[in-house]
Amino acid sequence: MSVRIPNTLGLDAFTDNWFEYADEEQLAACLAKAPKPWLPVGAGSNLLFSKPAVEGSVFHCTDTSWEASRGNGYVRVRAGAGMCWDDFVKLCVDNGWYGAENLSLIPGDVGAAAVQNIGAYGAEAGDLISSVEVYDTVRGHSRVFFPDECEYAYRSSVFKKSGKRYFVLKVVFKLSLQPSFSLEYGNLAARIEGEPTLQKVRDAVIATRQSKLPDPQVTGSAGSFFMNPVVSKKDFAALQKRYPDMPHYPTATGRGVKLSAGWLIDRAGCKGMTAGDAAVYEKHALILVNRGKASAGDVIRLASDIIERVEAAFGVRLCPEVETV
Ligand code: EPU
Repeated sequence: MSVRIPNTLGLDAFTDNWFEYADEEQLAACLAKAPKPWLPVGAGSNLLFSKPAVEGSVFHCTDTSWEASRGNGYVRVRAGAGMCWDDFVKLCVDNGWYGAENLSLIPGDVGAAAVQNIGAYGAEAGDLISSVEVYDTVRGHSRVFFPDECEYAYRSSVFKKSGKRYFVLKVVFKLSLQPSFSLEYGNLAARIEGEPTLQKVRDAVIATRQSKLPDPQVTGSAGSFFMNPVVSKKDFAALQKRYPDMPHYPTATGRGVKLSAGWLIDRAGCKGMTAGDAAVYEKHALILVNRGKASAGDVIRLASDIIERVEAAFGVRLCPEVETV
């Protein structure tokens, strides 16, 4: 029987082979009978299904369990890949564990967060991860990746680059018990009255996100559709001469300069652009929304029109953050 695959863009996507697993043993049993190709999905918040009938098999982890152990000044939380990411953040905030609060309200599951290295307001999931337990579908057994093996970079990891080889089972996070906040990004400090607390920071992040991003329950979207592009320092200098107000950020490696895709799309005049029922979100140009019955073709057409316009205006080629399957 055909099962509808969850995806926050709200596109039609169905599979005849839907498998749910809570642990390694169940996953191995599912894989043994599942036609290839194999696609693990979390909440489907970063996926664009290019056609309604999805080939092969789709897997979803239902492990939402967690356990915590305290060390000296820190706590380790081992969470199931199927735990809702924001439930994890709330758990940390409620218990006085520092580090995840800037990542409040990001859609998706814990497993996908470790693959995608989700980030917001100066924090990234990879910075909090002390190990990732995966099932290696090539070798047919589980293994653990430690941070130096995860190859975390901006919205990237070894898991993302390995073409669905690894299915995440558990993620172990290390959070601090000492108060420490990072409020310089996105004007969070201005939204906080008095001394910051974990709850105040979480509330400020939620309010900021809600003011700019569409509510996934109401309007289909996949969050930021494109990555913020990195250009050489030389190209940046030339751009900055023409556009002195262009937002820019240092990169983690110090090589090149990161630009704001939202600003480039906005300045290229793309707000208001549509293709069928797919549209550029009026409050944030980096978000493509489904106004109702958008097809994958509509979203893909709109995305390529945007890429062309931005390239013509600035000579910068945008790359999607959303993964097309
Ligand atoms: N901007 C415009 N016009 C727009 C939208 C943005 O001029 O329509 C400008 C803003 O004024 C600002 C700059 O672009 O100067 C950057 O915008 P914003 O602060 O909203 O952040 P972003 O770079 O667009 C990134 C992440 C978001 C994350 C925010 C906050 C990426 C691809 N996106 O967006 O992550 O929430 O920072 O930290 O890195 C996601 O990945 O799905 C996501 C929502």
